[in-house]
Amino acid sequence: MERLQKIIANSGIASRRKAENLILNGKVKVDGKVVLELGTKVSENSKIEVDNVLISRQEKVYYLLNKPRGIITSTKDEHNRKTVIDLIDEEKRIYPVGRLDYDTTGIILLTNDGELANLLMHPRNEIDKVYIAKIKGILTPVDLMKLKKGVMIDGVKTKKAKVKIRKFDKEHDTSIVELTIHEGRNHQVKKMFESVGHEVLKLKREKIAFLDLSGINSGEYRKLNPKEVKKLYALVGHSH
Ligand code: URA
Repeated sequence: MERLQKIIANSGIASRRKAENLILNGKVKVDGKVVLELGTKVSENSKIEVDNVLISRQEKVYYLLNKPRGIITSTKDEHNRKTVIDLIDEEKRIYPVGRLDYDTTGIILLTNDGELANLLMHPRNEIDKVYIAKIKGILTPVDLMKLKKGVMIDGVKTKKAKVKIRKFDKEHDTSIVELTIHEGRNHQVKKMFESVGHEVLKLKREKIAFLDLSGINSGEYRKLNPKEVKKLYALVGHSH
């Protein structure tokens, strides 16, 4: 038995708070009857309708993929390019949590749990994402400080970031830099480096919160275990 608002939120159509409002506003039916009470426990087999539309109560699945270069992070592509979904052998309709560019590699989560996906992407929850960028040029201490404090991209300042230099290659005039951010704006890392005058030559995401790519080669994936899912929910302040 699970709480009604949790089931609705899990289906991905609304946050838990919005799900509660839907219930209070008489929009939710269980086995054909309107339920107005929050916290009503509902059995596995009950039919739940929101605005007269049956919601899906599929088992939730969670994958961690090491995305290769040249794959797009969406569920479909108009040009028929390969997507991250094509790499995972799963019948259920899953989708990526956030995005990585076509030429960016590394860790990405995929799930059919809309609630967790939304919570992980919400900037309020400040989920750390660690990127390793190979950039053109040698990053100066001044550039480093600017990136840490926040730079203007598309007219909006980025939040504080952690920045560490991993390596300089004076011969090839490149630097390898580790950047930890919790926002997920479009092309954020590339734009941050561009704003201090460095082109990103290669970009990889190494970590999302406590999850990394240990043992997962490029193009490979694994399921998250229940402990990891629980830990992710705990990080965003929800129980699971
Ligand atoms: N920032 C970028 O610029 N690209 C990505 O793919 C991810 C973060």
